[in-house]
Amino acid sequence: MMIKKAIIPAAGFGTRFLPATKSQPKEMLPVVDKPTIQYVVEEAVESGITDILMIIGRGKRAIEEHFDRSFELEIQLEEKEKFDELLAIRKISRMADIHFIWQKELNGLGDAVRYARLHVGNQPFAILLGDTIMESDEKPVLKQLMDVHEIYGGSVVALEEVPDEKVSRYGVMDGKETAKNIYAVNTFIEKPSLEQAPSNLVIASRYILDSAIFDCLDNVFPGVNNEIQLTDAMKLLLETQKMYGLKFEGKRHDIGNKLDFIKTSVLFGLRNSDISIELKKWIWEIGDSI
Ligand code: UTP
Repeated sequence: MMIKKAIIPAAGFGTRFLPATKSQPKEMLPVVDKPTIQYVVEEAVESGITDILMIIGRGKRAIEEHFDRSFELEIQLEEKEKFDELLAIRKISRMADIHFIWQKELNGLGDAVRYARLHVGNQPFAILLGDTIMESDEKPVLKQLMDVHEIYGGSVVALEEVPDEKVSRYGVMDGKETAKNIYAVNTFIEKPSLEQAPSNLVIASRYILDSAIFDCLDNVFPGVNNEIQLTDAMKLLLETQKMYGLKFEGKRHDIGNKLDFIKTSVLFGLRNSDISIELKKWIWEIGDSI
């Protein structure tokens, strides 16, 4: 069955990006001219998602406003005959059926996902983290996961290969490759030391999960940082169901940390025809002076 529903958790504090995130959501930080979360919604829609639930929290109203219609702006653009901009603005509110729910207390990603229970019902569904842009040459990363789900069933999680010095920052997969880039997952180990890490493949911001994850979330205790960890619930799910990992084709850009945000902005800027020539020239010029 085709997966039509997705949730986008976007309620987190964004402490790594303070003070920028004191009163504005990190998911709204623009990469060139689009907020991060719009790239995420576009990936979902291009993958066939038609219904999106965003989990938001205090200080995140700008996300709701961004995906709502803005009649005044539309009228003004129409009067000024700025039709390209008008189309771009209209497209945003028409991309999908977008709903919002508030996470009352920020008790972690697993807790945020719990809020989607009623909306999702008994179907498998997708999760896309709202602070991460996934770039790929061919298929959107979520669609790559959907294709694995269609063949194998079960839950599917995106995996990224990271260098040794980074494994201790992530949830690491322990599993066996069953086809090219597809792994049958045994378990996950959260933030292991390099010696303990069973692989260099880490959970990477996109998931397709069976709705049984909600019962699992009810049965996990707060873990790292006293938060309800989605990874802990996935480990419980693995006790009764199969789960697959896909080493996806593409690149992950985590906008929640400053360095990746700046790198991604430069990279996307160099690909944007409006500014790429000037930006290249400027990089060339400052290259000698710093
Ligand atoms: P992060 O692990 O990046 O946490 O969340 P964070 O709180 O947003 O940021 P830092 O670490 O303090 O800088 C990953 C995703 O899960 C969402 C975030 O909005 C982000 O998209 N999230 C996290 C929630 O929706 N609720 C939470 O309680 C925690």
